[in-house]
Amino acid sequence: MFPQLNRNYAWAIALSLVARSSHVSAGPCDIYSSGGTPCVAAHGTTRALYNSYAGPLYQVKRGSDGATNDIAPLHAGGVANAAHQDTFCAGTTCLITIIYDQSGHGNHLSQASPGYFIGPDSHGYDNLASAIGAPVTLNGEKAYGVFISPGTGYRNNAAKDTATGDEAEGLYAVFDGTHYNNRCCFDYGNAEVSGNDTGNGHMEAIYFGDLTAYGTGAGSGPWIMADLENGLFSGFNAKNNAGDPSIIYRFVSAAVKGGANKWAIRGGNAASGPLSTFYNGTRPNARGYNPMSKEGAIILGIGGDNSHGSQGTFYEGVMTSGYPSDETENAVQANIVAAKYTIAPLTGGPELTVGSSISLRATTACCTTRYVTHTGSTVNTQVVSSSSPGALKKQASWIVRTGLANSECFSFESVDTPSSFLIHDNFVFVLRSNDGTKALHEAATFCPQPGLNGKGNSIRSWSYPTRYFRHYNNVLYAASNGGVHKFDNPASFNDDVSWVVSAGFA
Ligand SMILES: *[C@@H]1O[C@H](CO)[C@@H](O)[C@H](O)[C@H]1NC(C)=O
Ligand SMILES: *[C@@H]1O[C@H](CO)[C@@H](O)[C@H](O)[C@H]1NC(C)=O
Repeated sequence: MFPQLNRNYAWAIALSLVARSSHVSAGPCDIYSSGGTPCVAAHGTTRALYNSYAGPLYQVKRGSDGATNDIAPLHAGGVANAAHQDTFCAGTTCLITIIYDQSGHGNHLSQASPGYFIGPDSHGYDNLASAIGAPVTLNGEKAYGVFISPGTGYRNNAAKDTATGDEAEGLYAVFDGTHYNNRCCFDYGNAEVSGNDTGNGHMEAIYFGDLTAYGTGAGSGPWIMADLENGLFSGFNAKNNAGDPSIIYRFVSAAVKGGANKWAIRGGNAASGPLSTFYNGTRPNARGYNPMSKEGAIILGIGGDNSHGSQGTFYEGVMTSGYPSDETENAVQANIVAAKYTIAPLTGGPELTVGSSISLRATTACCTTRYVTHTGSTVNTQVVSSSSPGALKKQASWIVRTGLANSECFSFESVDTPSSFLIHDNFVFVLRSNDGTKALHEAATFCPQPGLNGKGNSIRSWSYPTRYFRHYNNVLYAASNGGVHKFDNPASFNDDVSWVVSAGFA
């Protein structure tokens, strides 16, 4: 068929492809394709999920001017170009606005619209995630995951080619196994197109957390479960299945797959070792789950009805067409391990020393003699100096402690009220006694970074990374740049969230 010359040329190309493929590894979606169950949605802010994918991974929007920019891999098949984000977002805040579908099906995720539950952002939408909440490295290259605080969610109600009805699908995701809670529902996967609960079996998503209202596994959680609507399932039984273990790795691989009267939960350490099988059997026999009535929308960080009390961190995940084989999933797990997820620093800027007493001085032109102070449980800014009364000097002094919820960040204990900490309650700061609860610890943990106005530190909440220490009318808030509260006002935001840290007055 071909003239001799062309046949030789084709042979040379084939040889060079063989040579290339011997040192280029396949991405997760190449592996799913080889297994006959191709990805129909592929989301990863950390890396390309196909060996040949060089398109956008996600879009960020910055607070200073509302401009957007796409973040792509460093090279085809590679880790995200985090330096591009850092440059684009320098001296301001950035939100993740779109998580692109790499599969070619156009199943991008964007800010979740209101469902049965109304979101906290304007027009009832859910919040968007900070672009810097979940830094990691993959094979030594910095990247960012999607840090979902309560109220945050992404969705696509018009997804194409995802499983509907009782069609088979596979799902996997990589999460932060230390970031979860017991509220509904940190999910990734298949959900209702309406944003409403339309009944049992209308969802099939991976859930991660320690909510105990539905199913549970062994121990106290967190667990990988399947959100099948009106039930988080840890196995055949609607309530407890001891085969589903608590899973506490820093990086967790989670897989759920479902087909005609069969489904499975698998999981493991995303940084080493194989997947284990936590359930592999028939559908639950509660009414409505066999056959399933999947609707094919895609959610991240929320429930199918837009319940948004949950938290968690997502790095990458996919949905397939067809029921992936165990071998295919095992190969995907090996690929995730080879990507070498490791932690990256959560803090930056002038260093804070654990155990030292500090003061925090405002840098906004109005207020450069004012310091973070408490009056009883109220936290405000007041004019303080070395000649102030001793009581006021103590009220304006804070002991730096290791972060109560995350040891990479910090908590701030009152000098004059030992064991009481700066926390935010509905984003208003108060001084509160450490009651030992996870909720208080999270509300008391903050991660400093270089000041957004170039001075000192900006200090963001660990659990709400869009929110920073901000003085507004001389009261201290955990404020986001341009959010719905008055104290989120973008005017003078960078100045109001930048603080000079010096030695405490007492
Ligand atoms: C969701 O349910 C509510 C009532 O609970 C209804 O008003 C609304 O129209 C439904 N939304 C959709 C998109 O079906
Ligand atoms: C899951 O069950 C199927 C059907 O019984 C079986 O072929 C498969 O090997 C099982 N997988 C695991 C990992 O146990």
